[in-house]
Amino acid sequence: MTMSTTDASRVLRTDYQKSVAAYWNNEQDPVNLRLGDVDGLYHHHYGLGEYDPSVLAGPDDRIIAELHRLESAQADVLLDHLGAVSRDDRLLDGGSGRGGTSFMANQRFGCQVDGVTISEQQVEFASGQAERRGVADRVRFHFRNMLDTGFESDSYRGIWTNETTMYVDLFALFSEFSRLLEYGGRYVCITGCYNDLTGGRSKAVSQIDERYTCSVHPRSEYFTAMAANNLVPINVVDLTAQTIPYWELRANSSVATGVESSFLTAYREGSFHYLLIAADRVNGRR
Ligand SMILES: C[S@@+](CC[C@H](N)C(=O)[O-])C[C@H]1O[C@@H](n2cnc3c(N)ncnc32)[C@H](O)[C@@H]1O
Repeated sequence: MTMSTTDASRVLRTDYQKSVAAYWNNEQDPVNLRLGDVDGLYHHHYGLGEYDPSVLAGPDDRIIAELHRLESAQADVLLDHLGAVSRDDRLLDGGSGRGGTSFMANQRFGCQVDGVTISEQQVEFASGQAERRGVADRVRFHFRNMLDTGFESDSYRGIWTNETTMYVDLFALFSEFSRLLEYGGRYVCITGCYNDLTGGRSKAVSQIDERYTCSVHPRSEYFTAMAANNLVPINVVDLTAQTIPYWELRANSSVATGVESSFLTAYREGSFHYLLIAADRVNGRR
């Protein structure tokens, strides 16, 4: 690790990145922390799958556990799309949050995982979790910018981003990922994106941007930015219908934050999708 890539002024290069880092450094939201407390896997993403309606009868802890089950199920779906990964492979978690998906990847594949985030608090938290889990030699968290990680070229079998791409320019991101992936390496993305067909950013999508200080991209931009960077999609899965139950349950929970109605409106009106894209790194001009 060199100072040139980890020094704060080099990691946080714009005022926008500083504001995103400040948001995640200060984030203590029960919708993330209480859910993570269930089994020590802390996520900052949404859920997939049907919920058990009996949890609505209470007590509250049952709803919390059910929401957490759905968010871990989401991470499992992401990992299902990484293809064959061996113990000797390295994976990169772009925008790793408190590390939940990184630990699940290590548990599943036994491989090494590097998580990068621009939040120093998250690096500290996730590194503490790695120590506690006894995997600190295999799962490492770094205060680095995923647009310019400083890691070695062609060194990763797989890279994923779990709800992080709305913070960055996709062409810059996929250029860096294409550099980092070995030939035939797999990139998997789960993201919310807006629907080009409905004619621009809807009011509900703008509310999501405002809530998270992010900028949701149109669906089309993922594919043009991948094509420009030698990333060829092998799977594209519209997860929208599968994520709606999570939002319905969350809207009825004690950890609702107020953003639930924007997500539900955006998904139901069709202005927003929850998308998984898996792509392989091919050769070509870089
Ligand atoms: C919604 S959270 C998702 C966290 C994690 N992927 C998960 O599923 O739990 C967004 C994450 O993106 C990170 N992030 C945003 N911009 C970044 C950048 N330019 N480089 C690295 N991480 C970034 C934030 O620090 C935060 O950890």
